[in-house]
Amino acid sequence: MSGYLLSIDQGTTSSRAVLFTTEGRVHALAQEEFSQKFPQDGWVEHNPDDLWGTVLTTCRKVLAENALSTDDIIAIGITNQRETTLVWDRHTGVPVYNAIVWQDRRTSEYCEKLSAQGVEALISSKTGLLIDPYFSATKICWLLEQIPGAREKAERGDLVFGTVDTYLLWQLTGGKVHRTDATNASRTMLFNIHTQEWDPELLELFDIPASMLPEVLDSSADFGVTAKHLLGGEVPILGVAGDQQAALFGQTCFTAGMAKSTYGTGCFLMLNTGDKALVSANRLLTTVAYRLNGKTTYALEGSIFIAGATIQWLRDGLQLIKGAAEAEPLACQTPLDHGVYLVPAFTGLGAPYWDPNARGAIFGLTRDTGIKEIVTAGLQSVCYQTKDLQKAMESDGVRPTTLRVDGGMVVNNWVLSFLSDILGATVDRPEIIETTALGVAYLAGLQAGVFESLESLQLMWHCDKRFEPTMSKSGRDEFYAGWQDAVRRVRGKDE
Ligand code: G3P
Repeated sequence: MSGYLLSIDQGTTSSRAVLFTTEGRVHALAQEEFSQKFPQDGWVEHNPDDLWGTVLTTCRKVLAENALSTDDIIAIGITNQRETTLVWDRHTGVPVYNAIVWQDRRTSEYCEKLSAQGVEALISSKTGLLIDPYFSATKICWLLEQIPGAREKAERGDLVFGTVDTYLLWQLTGGKVHRTDATNASRTMLFNIHTQEWDPELLELFDIPASMLPEVLDSSADFGVTAKHLLGGEVPILGVAGDQQAALFGQTCFTAGMAKSTYGTGCFLMLNTGDKALVSANRLLTTVAYRLNGKTTYALEGSIFIAGATIQWLRDGLQLIKGAAEAEPLACQTPLDHGVYLVPAFTGLGAPYWDPNARGAIFGLTRDTGIKEIVTAGLQSVCYQTKDLQKAMESDGVRPTTLRVDGGMVVNNWVLSFLSDILGATVDRPEIIETTALGVAYLAGLQAGVFESLESLQLMWHCDKRFEPTMSKSGRDEFYAGWQDAVRRVRGKDE
């Protein structure tokens, strides 16, 4: 089959349109950043027009710059920042408020009340999630309660809810389609991952009208076609998945035991557990990895809120570096025993702590601490947080057979060597690190008949560089103990 697969990757800080060949190679890419809104401590919002606007412009740009038309595009796949919540009017398409971003903590108190009601076990058993502001349900509640008239309109059936994939599908199809896929649905805290349906008991608990919810399809499915006026022609949208699930798919982690870790704004370690929805005793999440032909594959997930965002903060907030590329040479010049620990709990801590009230700190500063030590500590914080997840998974009785890494930060060889050392495990970086976009191109391509099977996709994965641990166990333990101590101090408790 000739032509390209177009992946739309709508992430937390930028939107990208990536064209893939039918051999799974990146042909061209367009990217645009958009602004982050922080109206109050712990609040994070996106303007819906920015999300949609940057998606549309990058799609148009990647086609125009490569002299392609919609006739050259076999299918579109959409992958997205997950959990981020939008509510809009089903008649006018106008959102009632900004998108409330996954990192947003405004519903912390509501979550505390829910926990005090003793409903965590019920929620976890159905959704695989823990009570935390991270997920969409409490964000929807906030919108319905705080936006004047929203509750009444929702009760009348005039408002719809969607995660970012759903909002983009709506826009791309000219308001014709209100759908999502099972991976995105599994992050809302309203979806029963066992029955694969919106859960009536949870809808009642959160007081959310069922009419607001999108139809849930497999990750490879006929989601709709683009409205002609947008890109110049109609293109079928055949794949949708949350970005972390798409990355797992792009890394072809199709067998139970295979894991990937993606270093974008946050870091998300996901382990395929096959057809078993494994329950964690260590505060990891159980989630849908992908659903194909009605068959669900599950994953265990550790979610860290701030990874690449630490480097962004060192660059834009502290202005210690001009670009991410400066971090690696600085780390290479820094002796490992510099003693500085940076805990980037800017929006609380995710797995395995789930502490929305923790805030960031830097420990171990001395008179000779300089820029390079702080930057190095920032890079190391990403590795230590991955170690926290690895430990939690091991306590749950699973040790990944492989750890494949991707995302912007993995171009940094120093980070991957330290990661391998601190994990005491092999870390593989694939040739294509645009794994998120690749994953959804695979999902769309499977539906279009471009790819035959999961096995054929597995053959397309190639290792670029393998990192093996060289640090002694005692060294690793000592460094990690320093991190654990720093985390205890930002939380003010022992756990
Ligand atoms: O769960 C949030 C996640 O999907 C965001 O991913 O790549 O935008 O950090 P990213």
